[in-house]
Amino acid sequence: MKRGFLILVTLPWAAAAVAGQMVDRPVNLARNGRTPHVNYMTECQGCHLPDGSGMAGKVPAMKGEISRFLTVEGGRQFLIQVPGAANSKLSDADLAAVMNWIITTMGKPAAGTFTPYTPEEVASYRAHSLQDVATVRGRLVSRFAVQEPPTGATSSR
Ligand code: HEC
Repeated sequence: MKRGFLILVTLPWAAAAVAGQMVDRPVNLARNGRTPHVNYMTECQGCHLPDGSGMAGKVPAMKGEISRFLTVEGGRQFLIQVPGAANSKLSDADLAAVMNWIITTMGKPAAGTFTPYTPEEVASYRAHSLQDVATVRGRLVSRFAVQEPPTGATSSR
């Protein structure tokens, strides 16, 4: 009984993998009918705050910062694989839409530099969870280009 059930659930995945449509898991294209902004409000802003400014020492700011991950190799995957995003209850389609919304409203990438995530891309990243978030994040951040200090800041050197 139990074995029969297992075969039944794994069959569609295996069949699709054989057909070469996907490698890791099926893409969840279901939409919950809410706008990306509303999904952000219900699933993300409790920690990230409405404007993405985060909580000092606990939740990093996405506002003005998030696009920097897109400038380093592995950053595009990281934004989806980070637990708050990957483990949310949003489908791949809704998560892609939320991330595209976050990046374009809070990250303000330079015009023409951001290729929106597709549900298929999100599914492929989500299939691999991050083992050590802090280490991976630290490695990515260390590769960010050094930014000019904010105007008005005084240097001690
Ligand atoms: C329970 C709190 C919490 C929730 C809810 C949450 N996050 Fe996060 N998020 C974090 C923390 C903490 C980090 C820093 C990395 C880590 O430790 O996971 C983070 C990091 C991120 C990052 C990478 C930014 C960076 O600088 O590291 C993205 C992108 C992100 N979250 C997106 C989301 C999205 C999208 C949602 C909603 C679907 C969400 N998060 C929900 C706490 C949360």
